[in-house]
Amino acid sequence: MREHFELRRGDALGRIGALTVPRAGRTVETPALLPVINPNIRTVSPARLEAEFGADALITNAYIIRKTEDLRERALDQGLHDMLDFSGAVFTDSGSFQLAEYGEIDVTTREILEFQRAIGSDVATPVDVPTPPDAARETTETDLTTTEEALADAEAVDTGEMLVNAPIQGSTHLDLREDAARHADATALDVFPVGAVVPLMNDYRYADVVDVVAAAKRGLGADAPVHLFGAGHPMMFALAVAMGCDIFDSAAYAIYARDDRYLTVRGTNHLDDIAYFPCECPICAAHDPEEVRAADDDERERLVAEHNLHVSYGELRRVKNAIREGTLLELVETRARGHPAMVDGYRALLNHAERIERHDPASKGAFFYCSAESARRPEVRRHHDRIGRLDAPERLLLTEGNDPTGDRFDATWRLLPPFGPVPRALSETYPFTAELPERTGAAAREAAARGVAALVDANPTTDVTVAHDGWPAAARSLLPDSVTVEPLGARPDRDGR
Ligand code: GUN
Ligand code: ZN
Repeated sequence: MREHFELRRGDALGRIGALTVPRAGRTVETPALLPVINPNIRTVSPARLEAEFGADALITNAYIIRKTEDLRERALDQGLHDMLDFSGAVFTDSGSFQLAEYGEIDVTTREILEFQRAIGSDVATPVDVPTPPDAARETTETDLTTTEEALADAEAVDTGEMLVNAPIQGSTHLDLREDAARHADATALDVFPVGAVVPLMNDYRYADVVDVVAAAKRGLGADAPVHLFGAGHPMMFALAVAMGCDIFDSAAYAIYARDDRYLTVRGTNHLDDIAYFPCECPICAAHDPEEVRAADDDERERLVAEHNLHVSYGELRRVKNAIREGTLLELVETRARGHPAMVDGYRALLNHAERIERHDPASKGAFFYCSAESARRPEVRRHHDRIGRLDAPERLLLTEGNDPTGDRFDATWRLLPPFGPVPRALSETYPFTAELPERTGAAAREAAARGVAALVDANPTTDVTVAHDGWPAAARSLLPDSVTVEPLGARPDRDGR
C-alpha cells in the first residue's frame, strides 16, 4: 500500500485522489495540473499562478537551474520555494528531456537527485532515457536498461522526505512499457510518470497515447499515482484521466502563447483566425481578439498564456466534476466530437473496455447515449458478460414495445438498445435508466442483438421471441437462428424471420 496516495472517487479508470507531498507539507488533489515554469522565462509568475489560478503544484527544471550559475546559487541559497515565490508543491525534472533533445547531458542520477534535494524540490526525477515512438526494439531495450539503472541509483540516494519519480519508458513497444511499469512499481520510488509521449501528442497520435498508457497501467498497481509527462493540452485531459492518469504538466500554455496559439478543449486556434473569443475566462471576457492582436509582444503572450491556463484549469475542474458525477465517459465522448484525433483516442479507449469495466463503479447517475461509440462502452460490455447469470424462463419475449406477457410467454423483458435483454426488475437500475435518443441508430441495435445472442448462448433451452421496432437487416442478422423475430405491430417480417 502506498501511503502517500489515497484514492477517493473513481469513474472509468479515472480517479480523484490525494497525493501527500511530505516535503511541501501538503496534499495535492489529483487529477492535478503542474504548470511548467521555465526558470529563465516567466510568462506568468508562480506567485500569480498560486494566487489567481489556484495552482497548488508546479514543475520546473533542476537541470537548467543547475547549469545556470546565478539560478544555481540562488536556488541553493534560498531554496526553490523562495526563489520562485511559491508555497505549493514543487516538482522538478532532471534533464532527461534535454538528453532526448541533444543526445547528451553532463549529470548523473545521483548528482541531479542530490541537487534536487539541496534546492528543496518536493518531487524529484532521476535521469531516465526517453526513447522516442517507433524506436527499434533493441534500442528501446538498451535504453530501458539504462533507465532501470537510474531507478536503482535513485533508490540508493538518501532523498529524505522528498518524493521521487520512477519514469516508465518503452517507446511504442507495449510489452516493454508494461515490463518497465512492473519494474518501476517494484521499486521504492513514489510517482510514476509515463515518458516520451510528447512526440505522440505533437503528432496527434492519441490512440497510441491511450495504448501506451494502458500498457503502463497494466504493469502498475491501482494505487500508483501516474503522471503523463509533457501532457498539457486540455483537449486530452478527459481522455487521459479516463485511462487512469493523475498528474499532467503543461508547458503548452506558455509555448503555444509564444506563437499566438490559443488553446480550447476542441483543439488549438491561431489568434489571427479568431473573430470572437469562444471563452468565458477573465481575459476573454475583458478583451476582444483585435485588442489582443494589437498588444505588444510581451503583453500579447501574457494574455494568451493566461487564457490558456484558465482553459486548462477549467477543463481539469470539469473532469473532476465528471468523476464525481460518474459522467467521465460522456465528457470523453464530447471531447471526441470536437476533434478527429480525439475520436481515435476514444475508440482506442473503448478497445480497453474490458479492463475499464473491471474498475468502473457499477452504479452512477445516468448513462447518456450520445453517439455510435456509446454502444461500445464498458457498461454495455459488462451487461453482455453477465447476461448469462440471468435466469431466463422457458418462453421469453424481448420487446421494444409495451406488450403484455399474454399466454404465449412466461415473461416479457425489455429489449433495450444498446444493452439488449433487460428483465423488468432491473429496469430502474444503472445503466438501464440510460437516456437514449429517439433514433438510436444501427450501432445500438447491433449491440442489443449481441446481447440477445449472449442470452441465448447461456440459455439454450429458452424459447426466445424478439419484437423489434424496425431494426435494420444488419442488426437482425446478428440474432441467433433459434430466435423468433416479430417486428412490433405484428407486421409479418419480409424475410420470414
Ligand atoms: N518530459 C517530457 N517527457 C519526459 C520524459 O520522458 N522524461 C522526463 N524526465 N521528462 C520528460
Ligand atoms: Zn479565455
